[in-house]
Amino acid sequence: MDLKSRINREKLPHHIAVIMDGNGRWAKQQGKPRVFGHRNGVKAVRETTEAAAELGVKYLTLYAFSTENWNRPKLEVNALMALLVETIRSEIKTLNENGIRLQAIGDLEKLPARSFKELMNAIENTRHNTRMTLILALNYSAKWEIMKAVKDLAGLVEQGKLTADAIDEDTFADALSTRGIPDPELLIRTSGETRISNFLLWQIAYSELYFTPTFWPDFRKEDLYKAIIDYQDRERRFGKISEQAN
Ligand code: FPP
Repeated sequence: MDLKSRINREKLPHHIAVIMDGNGRWAKQQGKPRVFGHRNGVKAVRETTEAAAELGVKYLTLYAFSTENWNRPKLEVNALMALLVETIRSEIKTLNENGIRLQAIGDLEKLPARSFKELMNAIENTRHNTRMTLILALNYSAKWEIMKAVKDLAGLVEQGKLTADAIDEDTFADALSTRGIPDPELLIRTSGETRISNFLLWQIAYSELYFTPTFWPDFRKEDLYKAIIDYQDRERRFGKISEQAN
């Protein structure tokens, strides 16, 4: 049986998050500059988005640029920003044809003005689509997001609009940039690294983690199918014992 037909559509994760890693090493292996890896990473973005939408996954979050990525050489940061703008602009039509709504999480206003403008334009232009939501994490870090939520909630308490006692998990989740988006059941990281790297720390409390040695530019639909099959073979107990969970 081929990989796709081995997927149980009844047990599909609603939300898959991906740490796209290994672009630089993929390029280096071929004696090419790192940016060549990022350019080829776009194909993997397309394949993964298409595969997820075809299967019926409702949310796909891709970690495209972390707050720590600004520390990379200026040339690489500029190239990444240019690639983002270029990709976002050229993909609007395909996103609309496939019913995909674009959203973004992160400290977006600190992006270069042009990137921010293109991003807002694509979000606005795809907002009516309902088949799947593609969320780009841009200038994102989980610690930044959590600190912002804490400050926002503290501000509401200061203004007398909220009591400290009324803050619970739901209030807190609503203060995060992923408000309204279900937590990912599956988190994938490519390139063999087994770290979370400041990604969705609150939201992945119960996510299944899947690590693959495949470098991101080589990631194809079949790799996504493999990750989902692996996820479906796992028993998710949420702290209970096996008999209770089943
Ligand atoms: C990690 O590889 C990848 C990134 C920091 C950027 C990901 C960006 C893209 C795939 C480009 C376009 C994306 C979108 C959503 C339009 P790395 O550079 O850390 O690789 P390394 O660990 O081998 O150095």
